[in-house]
Amino acid sequence: MKIWAVANQKGGVGKTTTTATLASELAATGKRVLCLDIDPHGSLAHYLRIDPDDEQAASLADLFSGEVDSLAPLIHNTPWQGVSLATGGARLATLDRHGRQGLGRVLGRVLARLADDYDFVLIDCPPTLGVLTINALAACDLLLIPTQTEFLALKGLEGMLRTRAMVERARGRPLDYLIVPTLFDGRTRACRQAFETLQQAHPDLLWPHPIPTDTKVREAAALGETLSQHAADSRAASAYRDLINHLLQNGPAPAEMPGEEVAA
Ligand SMILES: Nc1ncnc2c1ncn2[C@@H]1O[C@H](COP(=O)(O)OP(=O)(O)OP(=O)(O)O)[C@@H](O)[C@H]1O
Ligand SMILES: [Mg+2]
Repeated sequence: MKIWAVANQKGGVGKTTTTATLASELAATGKRVLCLDIDPHGSLAHYLRIDPDDEQAASLADLFSGEVDSLAPLIHNTPWQGVSLATGGARLATLDRHGRQGLGRVLGRVLARLADDYDFVLIDCPPTLGVLTINALAACDLLLIPTQTEFLALKGLEGMLRTRAMVERARGRPLDYLIVPTLFDGRTRACRQAFETLQQAHPDLLWPHPIPTDTKVREAAALGETLSQHAADSRAASAYRDLINHLLQNGPAPAEMPGEEVAA
């Protein structure tokens, strides 16, 4: 079982879209996928048409606060075949504010028990560098950092990379990562410049094919459909498929990343 965290403390950069689309693409290849929505806003849960604040259902907040000690009762089937979800909703915000320690160990322990049930766990993180994100980083095998191709988002990336390095030191084993440029519009000079800046600053750990801005992404979310269900031939669906194929074959493996051409 592989655990991938999708994180960036900057808001609105495509974390939830990336988590949802990678999950559905993995499931389409026959993988069994569990998504953990640890964002108190519950955007991924909403996308999957599950209420993150359902008081009748146990949630990740109960796990992190010690009221339950297993993920199994928290897991929902979703409308997407092969994709399951556990979510936490607004109650997770309290944990983040109170800086509860040890969640990474909790996550690592409970996920280990599900190793035979899932091939992939994808964690959609909140737009903060609080305790929830840090503990997702502590538990994961690979960190994907969606980064919007615009000036301010590049500034946020530096903070994310410092946190990654800190978690890597603390856990004492490498934390591989890949920066995934998102919301790219090759017609605008600002996007092209931001992408060039990213290439210069992070030549080895940047996915070289930015995910384009594509209205099909928003439409799919509005309909609760996977991007491929909604628009299999769209540019964004194809870009995400290229990314998942690369990750499945090579992991982040920067040296083996395919060509550098970027569609305008
Ligand atoms: N490639 C894309 N093309 C067009 N719209 C996109 C694309 N990626 C994401 N969006 C839209 O941008 C908005 C923000 O995306 P998303 O929710 O995935 O970001 P996020 O980083 O998870 O945000 P938050 O920090 O609030 O959790 C959403 O409305 C989403 O539908
Ligand atoms: Mg999100």
